[in-house]
Amino acid sequence: MKKNHLHQPFVLAVISGKGGVGKSMTAVNLASSLNHAGYRAAILDADIGLSNCATLLNEQVTSTVGQWIHGDCSLDHLPHRLPEFTLVTAADDPSQQSIQPDVFMDAMDQVMMKLKEDHDFIIIDTPAGAGEMALWALDSADLGALLIVDEPTAISDVYRLCKYVLNIDPAYRFGSIVNFADSEGSADSTFSRFNTILNYFLQQKTDYLGFVPVSESIRESIQKQKTLRQLSGKDPVIVEFDFIAQNVISFANQAVQELVPATNHQRG
Ligand SMILES: Nc1ncnc2c1ncn2[C@@H]1O[C@H](COP(=O)(O)OP(=O)(O)O)[C@@H](O)[C@H]1O
Ligand SMILES: [Mg+2]
Repeated sequence: MKKNHLHQPFVLAVISGKGGVGKSMTAVNLASSLNHAGYRAAILDADIGLSNCATLLNEQVTSTVGQWIHGDCSLDHLPHRLPEFTLVTAADDPSQQSIQPDVFMDAMDQVMMKLKEDHDFIIIDTPAGAGEMALWALDSADLGALLIVDEPTAISDVYRLCKYVLNIDPAYRFGSIVNFADSEGSADSTFSRFNTILNYFLQQKTDYLGFVPVSESIRESIQKQKTLRQLSGKDPVIVEFDFIAQNVISFANQAVQELVPATNHQRG
């Protein structure tokens, strides 16, 4: 397989406000597509207490960030290497939710640095809501990938999350992925309606990253605990994840280009 690499690692936080909209499913299949495009990808499952990326892949994770904090394993044991990407699980036991947030975030920062040593892309799978871990994920990411579902509660949750973040940092970069779309056309209209709302109330917009159709093969891949590509390399939904991956790769390359003038400016 061809090998590609970025000049610096790019971090993407998959976020939605609402639960059950396909964040973990997207994280897993996007990581698979980035790997297929020749990049080294990692998922940091930051959904404390409800981590399920490992379950989605039928993997037993023996070392979590929570266990590392308790001194039960070392940092080097956390990256769980799978054929397509690396997986790190924050915590898979609800009792680990009792760890002090600042202690947890500090540990997560160190895990992030570790993953950046040998990965091009790090995808953070975030918990629902706008809690501390979701905000840590957005803060650590170069791009927030919003999962948009055409449902009033889902749209209002994701809108409130955007509003909260954009009030703190008006320059924050968001991209949108429409999930559960009936067709490309309906995904386009969901995306433009969401952007119209953002533009009207916040004078902001998000970039389109792609869509994921509502699909029986996604349900089957979840049942069989595999990525779509592991289930069947020919599934048409893989094309959509490869498209999203290409957009994310463009963002990552753009981010590097944008850094160059900034550095020159500082020097000048
Ligand atoms: N595009 C889709 N087509 C069919 N089922 C989907 C799709 N996206 C998500 N699902 C279903 O929704 C469930 C929730 O997805 P998940 O990724 O666990 O959501 P989240 O991480 O946001 O809570 C999955 O178990 C899956 O069955
Ligand atoms: Mg999830």
